Amino acid sequence: MKKQRELRVDLGDRSYPIVIGEGLLKQPNLLTPFIFGQQVLVVTNETIAPLYLESIMAGLSSYQVESVVLPDGEKYKNLETLNTIFDTLLSKKHNRTTTLIALGGGVIGDMTGFAAACYQRGVNFIQLPTTLLAQVDSSVGGKTAVNHPMGKNMIGAFYQPQCVIADTGTLNTLDDRQLRAGLAEVIKYGLIADAPFFNWLEENINHLLDRDPEALAYAIERSCENKAKVVSLDEREGGVRAILNLGHTFGHAIETYQSYKDWLHGEAVSVGMVMAAKLSNALGWIPENDVSRTKELLLKCELPVSAPKDMSAEKFLELMSVDKKVLDGSLRLVLLKSIGHAVVTSDFDPNCLNTLLESRVPEG
Ligand code: NAD
Ligand code: GLY
Repeated sequence: MKKQRELRVDLGDRSYPIVIGEGLLKQPNLLTPFIFGQQVLVVTNETIAPLYLESIMAGLSSYQVESVVLPDGEKYKNLETLNTIFDTLLSKKHNRTTTLIALGGGVIGDMTGFAAACYQRGVNFIQLPTTLLAQVDSSVGGKTAVNHPMGKNMIGAFYQPQCVIADTGTLNTLDDRQLRAGLAEVIKYGLIADAPFFNWLEENINHLLDRDPEALAYAIERSCENKAKVVSLDEREGGVRAILNLGHTFGHAIETYQSYKDWLHGEAVSVGMVMAAKLSNALGWIPENDVSRTKELLLKCELPVSAPKDMSAEKFLELMSVDKKVLDGSLRLVLLKSIGHAVVTSDFDPNCLNTLLESRVPEG
């Protein structure tokens, strides 16, 4: 029997387990303790359905189980697509005891969670994340949302799942670009709160890129541990949780600028983290060497480290001004005091930010 890892997100009566291991989707008994009624709706997309949907449905055949297969892509993470989930729930007469199961990456997880938060004012849901990014980040912590043309994840709710079951075997069908995008969020945990993990990543990044199962399972567990700790302290992002957004203010601006079509979320976050590190260095908070280490690790993952050339400083500032961390009109950013220590602050010289945005040059 393969090793199974289990952690908990501690949130009082809304606490839940995260189970990590290979082959977990073939064990429906892991799901059934978290399904309280007789109805289940599995939400997935057209890429994942042919790979995993049939076996999930077969394992749940003792329930009234339906599925909805959405189009694939960040550009479909919107209210219109969300409505197709509600259409299915209503046409199949799902009631308040139904359970929604998100089978997919962060897009499916965020949309299913938001649908669960809204349907009949809230029904149960379960996260079955199938991308690295979803296994280390989006399935944990209860942020659910859809995008708006004017801003990323602007319509949503905090709504926790009953459990997260991360089958690391699903990563075998994920393409390299998606795996690398997930690694950006893994590296984020090292940067914001876990310097020893950052060191470990520098040593072991090739094992992760080669998809060594032990290395991947360890990185997923360590990432989830970091995330669970922060979420348990600050579920609704009144304070410390915002550090999980390192690189995201810049990254979300890039994604919105590109109408959610070109770069992957993890790729935009990669550039955002380098920009945050550079700004931290310009403010005199971290040495140049920490910026180089950050860039080097991301470059080893073949992730982008500089912003799209055609995106102006003005565009950045305009799009960053709708960031959810803006407070009373003032922009707050997640910046680094060292590798392993992030802070959320509006206390930075705006000239340094302007210089950073004006002085972007292509980098290798
Ligand atoms: P994604 O959901 O678009 O998945 C990436 C691609 O991989 C898709 O084409 C998908 O169909 C495919 N795929 C998924 N699993 C697969 C598998 N096992 N085999 C083959 N193909 C597979 O993208 P993502 O990177 O998982 O998630 C990004 C989204 O997550 C963004 O919308 C972002 O805003 C959101 N996010 C949310 C949080 C949160 O806390 N809620 C955190 C980080 C990111
Ligand atoms: N991905 C950021 C958060 O969950 O808060």
